[in-house]
Amino acid sequence: MTFENIIFEKLDQVSQITLNRPKKLNALNQKTLVELHKAIEIIKKDDSTRSVIITGAGDKAFVAGADISQFADFDAEKGRKFSQFGQQVFREIELLNKPVIAAVNGFALGGGCELAMSCHLRLASTNAKFGLPEINLGILPGYGGTQRLPRLIGLSNALHLVLTGEMIDAEKAKQLGLVNEIVAPENLHQRAVELANLLAKKAPIAVQYILGCIYQGLDSDIDTGLKIEADYFGKICQTEDMKEGTTAFLEKRQPNFRGK
Ligand code: COA
Repeated sequence: MTFENIIFEKLDQVSQITLNRPKKLNALNQKTLVELHKAIEIIKKDDSTRSVIITGAGDKAFVAGADISQFADFDAEKGRKFSQFGQQVFREIELLNKPVIAAVNGFALGGGCELAMSCHLRLASTNAKFGLPEINLGILPGYGGTQRLPRLIGLSNALHLVLTGEMIDAEKAKQLGLVNEIVAPENLHQRAVELANLLAKKAPIAVQYILGCIYQGLDSDIDTGLKIEADYFGKICQTEDMKEGTTAFLEKRQPNFRGK
């Protein structure tokens, strides 16, 4: 499979997707979104990939949004389809069976911020800028932004950002809980790889079930969420990795998880 608008690499047990249209600040056009979707589908089926990094090419942008040049001939039907496809790709990232780290190396605006929010962890370089500026174009965030932003930073903060279209820096994003860590630009990739390798060593089925508990439970009432957790706990107790992890602890050695 060859890609033109993304770079798809494997670094040992870590797959990395780099959005690669730096002259357009990695803006997401249809082709780029289709390629991103294909890469995610490959990763989903690849048992040798244990964690994923998504980043942007160049030193200026992660992704500066959906490609605005596409919007000119949109009508209601085209607009709905555009939104639904982006939502689908980002939902597949969120529900992926391996942890995904966004390494945000500059502008993460509109669809770029929405892409980062669909990842499980977000590292930001000190020059990163976040925002949902769609309001300034007379449109609205259509790739899940209106749904994920309030879940991540609370209703009040989300309403402020979405209604004003304000851009915030990495410090403010960290303060709001939008990013997990801030790193110097020259260290961002190294830190992302370090974190991805750390996650790659964890028991893969446990990682998958933890993501399942959290994302399935998040929108349920607490009793449903607790039932989901107990069901996954029962399933995890059938795995070889559970025996390996607990035995390794008692034998005072490092576990060797095999994803079984
Ligand atoms: N869609 C299409 N093209 C985009 C883009 C987007 N979302 N964001 C940037 N670009 C293009 C610019 O048109 C420009 O192309 P050109 O060189 O052919 O004219 C190139 O990327 C560089 O962007 P430029 O605006 O010149 O860089 P800047 O440093 O002056 O400004 C931004 C950077 C991010 C503030 C500015 O590009 C911007 O506001 N982008 C749109 C952000 C947005 O509204 N995103 C939500 C879209 S729904």
